[in-house]
Amino acid sequence: MPVWVQLVYLACSVCFILALKGLSGPRTARAGNLIGAAAAVVAVIVPFVYLDLDHVPLIVLAIIVGSAGGVVGARRVQMTQMPQMVALFNGVGGGAAALVALLELHEAQDVIDSVGWFTLAATAFTIAVGSVSFSGSIITFAKLQELMTSRPVVFPGLPVVFGAGLLAAVVLAVVEVQGGAMWTGVLLALLGLLVGVLLVLPVGGADVPIVISLLNAFTGLTVAAGGYVLSNTLLLVAGTLVGASGTFLTLLMARAMGRSVANIMFGALKGGSTLGAGEVSDRPVRSAGPEDVAILLGYAGKVIIVPGYGLAVAQAQHTLRELVDVLGDRGTVVDYAIHPVAGRMPGHMNVLLAEAQVPYEQLKEMDDINGEFKQTDVVLVVGANDVVNPAAKTTPGAPIYGMPILNADEAQQIVFMKRSMRPGFAGIENELLFDPKTTLLFGDAKDSLGKLLSAVKSL
Ligand code: TAP
Repeated sequence: MPVWVQLVYLACSVCFILALKGLSGPRTARAGNLIGAAAAVVAVIVPFVYLDLDHVPLIVLAIIVGSAGGVVGARRVQMTQMPQMVALFNGVGGGAAALVALLELHEAQDVIDSVGWFTLAATAFTIAVGSVSFSGSIITFAKLQELMTSRPVVFPGLPVVFGAGLLAAVVLAVVEVQGGAMWTGVLLALLGLLVGVLLVLPVGGADVPIVISLLNAFTGLTVAAGGYVLSNTLLLVAGTLVGASGTFLTLLMARAMGRSVANIMFGALKGGSTLGAGEVSDRPVRSAGPEDVAILLGYAGKVIIVPGYGLAVAQAQHTLRELVDVLGDRGTVVDYAIHPVAGRMPGHMNVLLAEAQVPYEQLKEMDDINGEFKQTDVVLVVGANDVVNPAAKTTPGAPIYGMPILNADEAQQIVFMKRSMRPGFAGIENELLFDPKTTLLFGDAKDSLGKLLSAVKSL
């Protein structure tokens, strides 16, 4: 590899690190994303310049097809479908790395005796873990896209089959390192596909997005190992960055839900479902119209907004910001309480509210705002449910037990805006809906917020 290519790759690696740094804050996220994308484009172009490639038309065709799919997919995807989009992209990345490793193994068959054991180990790792990542991601995509049940799928003997599959993969990897035969590589890929499916099937409900993050980390490690096999330092660096950030994200999300990663992955095997029954309660609740809620809000000194998944579904962020502006003009202090796992992906609410130009200073993290609920007149829960469900504190055995929640129950008045009595993502009843301090404003969040806005304006 010429020195100039190494220097370009070094610059791209630095750009990837800067991109990650940029993505860690809302103000710099857009720039970070662009820096990362630009470096990826450069990295794709460079081999065309310094290598004498075979099959150039086919490679270009593959790039065109992939880019077209990526652009159309990214433009069309709804914000609420982002996790499954990430799962799909991630799975394709893992699968591609496994295929490249298989091809490298095939190419090296004539000189396999001269290939070092460490390179063969990295090849076996890439094939096995890349396949796990591919099939696991496809199953998570199917679950989130509701192409199959999102509940945990377990069957008698699953742990035994899974354990046997894992053991067989390790044995095959050892055989692969010793002989480098093509058949072991292919078998390893097939076993990886099976293990990936069995790994993800028992995960259900609210845990699925966390598994996506874990598989993302797997793909990163796969790509890093692939970088070693191909002697490509840029792949090595990029893969390591993805592996490390995916691992951190998984741990942070698990902590935000009060769960261990082992419990998320294997909880269902021990008999405990990670998802409630999803039953709709017919217990009586207090409901009111927009005019009544407007009076509550209009005369409140301090209001906290708790946004959740329903706000994203209704695309009501702009109307919500308008309402908050009007309340602010009336002298009410209004803040947004952001739960780390509100919505369906990390940072979901930050992205949604940033899109509506909500000032970052109004967005308060859970730990910063939880002490303020006691002095709050009204909490307006817009399309959120699990993140304020007291069962997380009071009901051992509930799927969300142990998850730190927003202390909305400590406020003077609580208003829930939702369409029905259906539970949230965890599928369990929320006792706060039946609290004497609680009022429900039924309807689509955008519709209700529009009416509420008019009613507050006319106070
Ligand atoms: P949820 O508990 O899922 O509640 C969403 C609420 O929005 C539901 O009560 C639903 O009730 C309502 N809703 C849906 N569409 C609506 C619309 N158009 N207008 C008004 N309301 C609407 O959401 P949450 O409180 O944000 O909690 C997030 C959940 O996702 C947690 O269980 C969390 O563990 C899980 N999760 C999140 C992440 C990340 S990283 N964010 C990762 C993994 C898991 P109706 O159907 O009655 O309207």
